[in-house]
Amino acid sequence: MTTASDAPGPAPVDGGRLQDRVAVVVGAGQTAGETIGNGRATAVTFARQGAPLLLVDRDEASLGETAEMARAEGVEVATSVVDVASDDGPDRIVAAALEAFGRIEVLHNNVGVGLGDGPPHHLADDAYDRIMDVNLRAMWRTCRAAVPALRASGNGAIVNISSLAAIAAAGNLTAYKLSKAGVNALTQNLALTNAKHGVRANAIMPGFIDTPMGVDEPARSLDADRTAYAELRAGLVPLGRQGSAWDVAHAALFLASDEARFITGVVIPVDGGQSARVG
Ligand SMILES: NC(=O)c1ccc[n+]([C@@H]2O[C@H](COP(=O)([O-])OP(=O)(O)OC[C@H]3O[C@@H](n4cnc5c(N)ncnc54)[C@H](O)[C@@H]3O)[C@@H](O)[C@H]2O)c1
Repeated sequence: MTTASDAPGPAPVDGGRLQDRVAVVVGAGQTAGETIGNGRATAVTFARQGAPLLLVDRDEASLGETAEMARAEGVEVATSVVDVASDDGPDRIVAAALEAFGRIEVLHNNVGVGLGDGPPHHLADDAYDRIMDVNLRAMWRTCRAAVPALRASGNGAIVNISSLAAIAAAGNLTAYKLSKAGVNALTQNLALTNAKHGVRANAIMPGFIDTPMGVDEPARSLDADRTAYAELRAGLVPLGRQGSAWDVAHAALFLASDEARFITGVVIPVDGGQSARVG
């Protein structure tokens, strides 16, 4: 007799782990630099696995570059230039996806900013408001807007990009840390309230990832040498190096795919072992 627990798993899909699953990647462009960003690597990874894509960013040129890379993988790609923190941003994203593909099965929220942050006693109101608005409020509003379509798909998955800063020491990043701790909490509530409606929600906490946003941008703002700053980060990681955006993308692919069909409400560190030090 076959029981539910020893029944065969989902049959392997031809051609890709996200074959024909419409995915929306918000923050699919990237901060300029030599290395690839998390959102761009995720868009390309989803495309390689057969997902038709709506790619969203406020930076039209960078978004166009990602779209070209994703199209080269042979999937249909639509784009939408949207500031996700604007009043109508989330609704416009959902409308664009439904217009292009008629459904949404995967929502990947990658947008995150941190410039202008500081320790609690030096953080300015406008920096706090901007970081919280973009990183947390806009993510919540995007999830809220997309949930009806995700539920309607019968097999929805949300992947939210948090940060190890949510749980690890980050004393000079007050608004960033608060916003990412909020992303973890938001993800758990999304998971609990949508589980019975066929929608999973999980988050990823990247550690030190070698992206322009993670290395070039802070090195510039600290007036530090890029190589020295990258080495400093690598030295703090148990595996002895920074991660790459592909490491984040592969975790996102797993969480978005049916391989993670029994996983919801988790927050996964992709950090080379750093969170093991936190406990
Ligand atoms: N690189 C790291 O070390 C690291 C570590 C922890 C967490 N993260 C998280 O990873 C995510 C980003 O990684 P990335 O490498 O893709 O960064 P990135 O800056 O290269 O890409 C983010 C994209 O979001 C876009 N964006 C910013 N604000 C927007 C807005 N209001 N509306 C629409 N688009 C907007 C930017 O234009 C950019 O293209 C963030 O959530 C960040 O907090 C990164």
